[in-house]
Amino acid sequence: MFESLKPAAVDPILGLMAAFREDPRDNKIDLGVGVYQDDRGRTPVMEAVKRAESKLMELEKTKSYQGIAGDAEYNSRMLALMFGDGHSILSSGRIKTLQAPGGSGALRVGAEVIKRARPEAKLWVGVPTWPNHIPLLGGAGFEIEEYPYYDMESRQINSELMMETLRKVPAGDVVLLHGCCHNPTGADLTNAQWDEITEIALERGFIPFIDTAYQGLGDGLEEDAYGMRTMAAKLPELVIASSCSKNFGLYRERTGSITFITQTAEQSGIVAAQAMTVARQLYSMPPAHGALLVSLILGDKELCSDWKAELEEVRLRIKSMRILLADSIQDNAQGMDFSHIKRQNGMFSFLGVKPEHLVRLREEFGIYIVSSTRINLAGINSSNINYLSESIKEVLK
Ligand SMILES: Cc1ncc(COP(=O)(O)O)c(C=O)c1O
Repeated sequence: MFESLKPAAVDPILGLMAAFREDPRDNKIDLGVGVYQDDRGRTPVMEAVKRAESKLMELEKTKSYQGIAGDAEYNSRMLALMFGDGHSILSSGRIKTLQAPGGSGALRVGAEVIKRARPEAKLWVGVPTWPNHIPLLGGAGFEIEEYPYYDMESRQINSELMMETLRKVPAGDVVLLHGCCHNPTGADLTNAQWDEITEIALERGFIPFIDTAYQGLGDGLEEDAYGMRTMAAKLPELVIASSCSKNFGLYRERTGSITFITQTAEQSGIVAAQAMTVARQLYSMPPAHGALLVSLILGDKELCSDWKAELEEVRLRIKSMRILLADSIQDNAQGMDFSHIKRQNGMFSFLGVKPEHLVRLREEFGIYIVSSTRINLAGINSSNINYLSESIKEVLK
């Protein structure tokens, strides 16, 4: 049977990670993989998470199966995190959240449910988008359409062209949007652009599907929720996939949630039941550990405020690396402008150099960057910033 299989294509990021691991140079730098690193280049367990884990050791009474929708307390605390206290949608009866295995699991469950509800719907993704969106969402059977998002020349969102395209999206189609900290470009929608897309969605009748994998890493926990809060207040239908991988540092614990907003409370129960059958067919039920930790943190005033302080430190460290890098390479022999890096948000930006520069950075200097030139700003720290900026300036000579 298996002799018919061809080798699967290696994910370019995983290939780059493997090459980085094998590189013997002490001063090598990994700007490829999308995980947070502190100033010492570690990806530590957050203190609040560690304390929640000690608490959980004492409190946990069973490892028996949990429900398909996951932990009910986690789901309601995630809703409070996403929408804040007192958002009208929370008391509307039109919203349901289910725990999911990470943001990826949430995206797939969301896609499968949409596919069941409207098999003919097309899915519109911005160009570029997180490369994994295509297999994850396309795997549910969607035909994928594209709308322009980032302009490589001006290094910002091509708002005019994006809005023009969205104005042509047929009613009933689905438009994928990044909640904040756009991956891979770092170029986020302004509040005014969120307002405009909300108006277009209302006019056209398409359904936004928001992927929020970085709440708290852009402008702040509340600020980063502007898009989903605005859309939830104004649109009849909305789907949101959330991840706790980055903002709680729970990557391997596979912690996320999928949220559906429906036109009526009655539909909301039906959608949740459909989502549960999707989950049952895919993985039965989500893993418990990460969600229990998030729930403990969000439900405990002191732990929650400590977590918020830690997250703020992470956010500000990335921001400061943006400024440091942009300023230190701005004065380069080719006169390239890197000021966009300072204006963008979250872990990523496009460096925007040529492919031959990337090859030289990797081969001569041990600096690993994916071919799109996406860099993870969190891979930069006080020990490697000088070497990094000098190396970039050297290849630009
Ligand atoms: C834009 C985006 N969405 C979703 C995810 C999925 O995150 P998770 O690890 O929780 O599946 C990521 C992870 O890198 C991401 O960058």
